[in-house]
Formats: sequence, C-alpha cells, structure tokens
Amino acid sequence: MARINENFLKLKAGYLFPEIARRVKAFNEANPEKAARLIRCGIGDVTEPLPEAARNAMKAAVDELGSRDTFRGYGPEQGYDFLRESIVENNYSKVGIGADEIFVSDGSKCDSGNILDILGPNNRIAITDPVYPVYVDTNVMIGNTGEADEDGRYEGLVYLPCNAENNFVPAIPEEPVDLIYLCYPNNPTGASATREQLTAWVEYARKHDAIILFDAAYEAFIQDPEVPRSIYEIEGAHECALEFRSFSKNGGFTGVRCGWVVAPKTVFGTTETGKKISVRDLWSRRTSTKFNGASYPVQRGAEALYSEEGKAQVSELITHYMENARLLREACESIGLSVYGGENAPYVWVACPEGVSSWEMFDRMLDEAQVVITPGSGFGAAGAGYFRISAFNSRENAIEVCERIKKNLG
Ligand code: MLT
Repeated sequence: MARINENFLKLKAGYLFPEIARRVKAFNEANPEKAARLIRCGIGDVTEPLPEAARNAMKAAVDELGSRDTFRGYGPEQGYDFLRESIVENNYSKVGIGADEIFVSDGSKCDSGNILDILGPNNRIAITDPVYPVYVDTNVMIGNTGEADEDGRYEGLVYLPCNAENNFVPAIPEEPVDLIYLCYPNNPTGASATREQLTAWVEYARKHDAIILFDAAYEAFIQDPEVPRSIYEIEGAHECALEFRSFSKNGGFTGVRCGWVVAPKTVFGTTETGKKISVRDLWSRRTSTKFNGASYPVQRGAEALYSEEGKAQVSELITHYMENARLLREACESIGLSVYGGENAPYVWVACPEGVSSWEMFDRMLDEAQVVITPGSGFGAAGAGYFRISAFNSRENAIEVCERIKKNLG
C-alpha cells in the first residue's frame, strides 16, 4: 500500500480558517434567524471591488489571448519582465534590488510554504508566537518538527513570544537559529516593527549566518513614515533576508492571486559540507521545475496597479480599510478593552475581557453579536486571551460591528 507523509498526522486540528468556516456553518444551520445578521471579520479577505485599472488591464490581456498575433502560451516561470521591472521600480528602486531577484508567484501563502523546498532538514527555526499558521504547519508537513505539546507548540521549533510588553515584536533569542520567520506589519497582531528592531534582527542573522524570511504582505497599510516598508531598507538585509510580498490585500487580489518573492543574489545557504550555495539560484531552479508562472492576464492586472490610475485606486482601498480599522479600534477602546494594532495594519488585536478565553470569545461574538472574529489562540499559544478583528469589510458592516461590540461587550 502507498505510504503517506506521516508528518501530516502531527498537525493539530484543521487549518485555522477552514475550521472557523466549519464552526460558522454549523452555527448558521442551527440558528437561521441569527445567520441572516452575520458579519464576517474573521479571515482577512478583502471585500471591496477590484480596482478598475486592474480589471481593464486583465480584460485587455484576455483579448490579446484571443488573437493569434498576440496570443501567449507559457510565460517565463519567474514572471514576465514587465511585472518584475514594475515591482522593482515601485518598491525597490532605492534599495538596490534587481528585476532578476524578483520571482512572481500566485501569492505569498504558497511562497512562504514552498520556500522550505530549498532549505535543508536540520535548520533551527524560529517563529513568533502568535504567528500566521502557514509558517508552522508547513514546517510540520515537511518533517522539521516533532510532535505538538498540549499547548500546541511543536518540538523542534524555537518560539519567540510576542506580547503587549514587547509591543508584539520578539526579543532577539539568546541561542543561535538558522531561519527566522518575521511578518511586519504583523498578522495577526497588527503590530509594526521599527527600523531599530529590524536592524537588530538583521545584525543577529548576519552574526549567525541565518536567513530571515520576511513576510511583508501588509506593507501597503503602513501609515507611519518611520516604519520600514521593506526589509531591504535595513543595511545588511541583502545578505540575509528573503522577502514575501503580495497584491492580495492592497490590490484586492485574494481571489485573483499574485505575489512575489525577493531573493537577492547575495543571500547564501550552505551544504552539510559547508559549501556556499546561492538561495536565489535554487529558488529560480525550483520555480522553473514546479511552476509555470502566474497567468498572463493576472500579471497584466498586477502591473496596472502601478499605473497612476491604479495607484490612486489602491490608495483609496487602503484608506477605506484603515478607516474601518480606526473605527473598530475606537469601538473596542470605548468599552475599556485593551486594543493593539490597526494603525499600520488592517488587523485589530484585542485582549478578551478578564477570564474569557479566545474560543469562548469567538462563540460569544457569534452567538450574541453575530460577528465572526478570529480567536487569538488559533495563531499560537501566546495568542490565548486575545481575539483578532479584520478591518476588511464594507464601511456599513464595520460601523455595524462597532455598534454590536459596544452593545454586547460593553
Ligand atoms: C488571515 O486572515 O490571516 C489571512 O487572510 C490569511 C492569508 O492571507 O492567507
């Protein structure tokens, strides 16, 4: 009989968001009147229409495919030059990243899991706690961990606690590690990291020949001009960091799917025998073998987000979601809850009232307010006692959620 990858059996319950969807579905079936009032602030999925610039570019690209003269089949696996160049011009022109260091993909979730293909089995891996669950689960799947303990912490991972005391940016560990996952602006806590904090991480990584996997999917939501938008703004990061970026949240591409990885030529890993190997070259090789590129119309749509019109439309979306975040923050603060995030990120991270657990809060918000939130403990043991509210919603829904929070939790 065919053998399965038994590492999958170490995974705890289902992946967080499908698990929430399952619970919400069961609730809706059992409570049809309440179901009609349901507002979803759980998964961070965009709600507002796709920018017109992207729609027009995608339509034009589809029409190109409809004529023999302009038809395109397989594209370059690493992405079309037009998009790789636009990405550099609009994000990295001041920090010395080249178009041949950009790898266009179908999104950051896949990239942040797939990267493990090119990294070896014996790395010491640090993750923040709470954390975007993909980083943990993909390490479990590939066999980089032992079993989970009763708090859900996997043997073999180094957990870096993030809490209100450290503003949800972890302290540098005492021990050396080889890989560090950092996500700023942060999912789930909505925290941002300062230049000094990121500099300390880059220095640590260089000292230990470690690689930082820097997830900047929420970069577009940064409001504070002092907050770095890319890890490459930090000196030395070109030698030790890969960056993951996405069009999902700024351009409304969660369903369209497009993102990119930055793999600088100056980042190296090592073989067991100590030979230095270019991470960029391995990622390019992996991409050519396992991927046929993001679709042409999608890449044209992504490129159009950088047109003057596209930039203005993206900016409107960001303003819209960040205003929701402000309203949600204020509503929670007004009833005396401790609130974090929501200032440079579309997530508001809230401490549950005294003695209420994250999942109790989830059930209570669903049953009493018909609002879906994400329980903090779903992001790791250190998320226990918190819940996350996503600001991705219509204004009308965000305002209604604020009212219900005040009424039901106040
Ligand atoms: C989230 O809600 O944490 C995000 O939507 C997850 C994702 O982007 O994959």
